[in-house]
Amino acid sequence: MTIENLSPSDSAATSAVYGTPPPALATVAPDAVQLSPTIPGSASLEACDAGRFAALTMLSPPGTVERRYTLALALRAVEPGGLFTAMALKDRGGSRLKKELEVFGCAPYETVKAHHRICALKRPAEIVGLDQAIADGAPRVIEPFGLWSQPGVFSWDRIDPGTALLARTLPTLSGKGVDLGCGIGYLARAVLTAPSVQHVTLIDLDRRAVDAARLNVTDSRAQTLWADATNGDAPLSGLDFVVTNPPFHDGGSEDRRLGQAFIRRAASALRKGGALWLVANRHLPYETVLGDLFTTVEVKAEQGGYKIFEARK
Ligand SMILES: C[S@@+](CC[C@H](N)C(=O)[O-])C[C@H]1O[C@@H](n2cnc3c(N)ncnc32)[C@H](O)[C@@H]1O
Repeated sequence: MTIENLSPSDSAATSAVYGTPPPALATVAPDAVQLSPTIPGSASLEACDAGRFAALTMLSPPGTVERRYTLALALRAVEPGGLFTAMALKDRGGSRLKKELEVFGCAPYETVKAHHRICALKRPAEIVGLDQAIADGAPRVIEPFGLWSQPGVFSWDRIDPGTALLARTLPTLSGKGVDLGCGIGYLARAVLTAPSVQHVTLIDLDRRAVDAARLNVTDSRAQTLWADATNGDAPLSGLDFVVTNPPFHDGGSEDRRLGQAFIRRAASALRKGGALWLVANRHLPYETVLGDLFTTVEVKAEQGGYKIFEARK
């Protein structure tokens, strides 16, 4: 099930959390409102009224523009005098957190634990530079390709070379299919150039990507879903095709199991004879799982460190 843009005012909770701070580093109230865009069903941090929460705890994202945007929105959502705690691994933005919060006019108290920098502060009445940080991280159309995107989503300001190679290699598809981990919708747009395609579901874990995809893919044959592609939340079966550039990073570290889980999901979603079109970095170990789950597996292109697989169920 997906709950899109749940309003933060739907809950009476007075505290919120963004992401999944390690339990050893933060105590989060059991009823805290989750605000992360990469946890489907979360409330939207952007939609929080100013001063909505008495306390907010955040595992800050690694990208600088995304982190400043998120910090700004979170500071706006905390009431003056309320408690704000932000943390990050030292090498994923943690070393810059204290300075970034000081630039907003805050006086954080910093501690170091388990490779994280943890900044706690009482939210001052005035926050400096809030509007600029929010504008810098907001959704926008990226030229020259003219698509909506936002700092923080995958390859947010350029077309990933693997994605571009898959889009160029795809044959004319037909029938019904899914783009697993659709990002801003570039692959789905390529798929939908074929009139023989009847329907494409675009699924991504990141609400910001789904929101951008919805603006980028306005074809009536397309449907967007904010969901985890690796579990059964989005019912998929009997499909003619799956296209995917699967993620292989989770929280910044390489996680090959994520890509393998995408392949398993693709296999269960396809009808007999249906095709998976997948791009992967050449070094990723997908051949075994593809061979186990599909009748035929062919490498259709290989370029710039990427491989394109066509696997038939
Ligand atoms: C390598 S990117 C590809 C994005 C897009 N298809 C493209 O080619 O530009 C992988 C995408 O998968 C999404 N993702 C990561 N884990 C996911 C999951 N469990 N379920 C659905 N999408 C996920 C990421 O947010 C990201 O947009």
